[in-house]
Amino acid sequence: EKDGYPHFMLKEIFEQPECINDCMRGRVNKETHEVQLSAISEHKERLLGARRFIIVACGTSWHAGLIGKQLIETFCRIPVEVEYASEFRYRNPVIDNGDVVIALSQSGETADTLAAIELAKEKGAFVYGICNVVGSSIPRNTDTGSYIHVGPEIGVASTKAFTGQVTVLTLFALALSKEKQLINDTTYRCIIDELEQIPEKIKEVLKQNQNIAELSRIFTYAHNFIYLGRGYSYPVALEGALKLKEISYIHAEGYPAAEMKHGPIALIDTEMPVVVIATQNAMYEKIISNIQEIKARKGHIIALINPNDTIISKLADECIEIPETLECLEPLITTIPLQLLAYHIAVCKGKDVDQPRNLAKSVTVE
Ligand code: F6R
Repeated sequence: EKDGYPHFMLKEIFEQPECINDCMRGRVNKETHEVQLSAISEHKERLLGARRFIIVACGTSWHAGLIGKQLIETFCRIPVEVEYASEFRYRNPVIDNGDVVIALSQSGETADTLAAIELAKEKGAFVYGICNVVGSSIPRNTDTGSYIHVGPEIGVASTKAFTGQVTVLTLFALALSKEKQLINDTTYRCIIDELEQIPEKIKEVLKQNQNIAELSRIFTYAHNFIYLGRGYSYPVALEGALKLKEISYIHAEGYPAAEMKHGPIALIDTEMPVVVIATQNAMYEKIISNIQEIKARKGHIIALINPNDTIISKLADECIEIPETLECLEPLITTIPLQLLAYHIAVCKGKDVDQPRNLAKSVTVE
């Protein structure tokens, strides 16, 4: 059932091009290149009238939520808050019938997320679920929603569910933006065309599996890692760090790159690997100076760069090349090498990647 892969996690990482296609099927019209989400068509007024979105989730799903926030705020101009479900539910949050709560959950069974939506419903909010497991508790307790359709995720470390969630959140932001008439046709078409290219671009990244496996060996004995990104790449940095922690048991932290100088830069020395998402987007110049700050303190830099990069390729100790895409779609691509890096480091350390210690696939107790 692992299809010849040594672990479910690796199989699920490699399934991502197909999963993203499955997630778009029936939603992105191949002829008209329009996005349609049935939940949006069916609840147009309620969603168009939302004064605010509150995304509730845990773990990796919470990271997908941070990307969703940027997508929805950018394209729909509606404020979005992203909350850990466990914090939200015990905080007596300010929430009313002008709010739409989006519950993100792979399993659809996470106890805290379920409790957060119960609370939101009591306060009159409308609840939209984005889940993977069909018929699970969260979809049964929401007003509407969209499944991510990525198939069963068996590896405890979430991989394809994350990219599936980000894909659905992208479709959601685009469809709602179109309904609100906030996006012009050219931009809308351009993003959809590019979204349709993402599965092929992920395949390009997957071809580097062997390179990443070799690179990973250097880090078998690392005790700490830092992951940095800005803008859309910041949640990807958090996710990269979480993947490494949970399966290799190496301590890792994700930071917005510019926050380094407010404290964490004190940690940098020759022993510190720093993974930097350094693609050529609006933040490129800024990320170069962040890299220089780390280099000056002799940190070991592993940079994710675009193939035509001539500056960072000289500054970084190690580079992983990834195809270019639109900034708002980059998380779908930049996440992949970080999943592979965590996977191979854990394998080098002889860890059980599919069943990491102390973790369960669905957290049904609080
Ligand atoms: C990390 C991981 C967990 C889950 C979290 C939420 O790889 O798997 O952090 O993301 O427990 O689970 P769901 O999405 O099922 O609500």
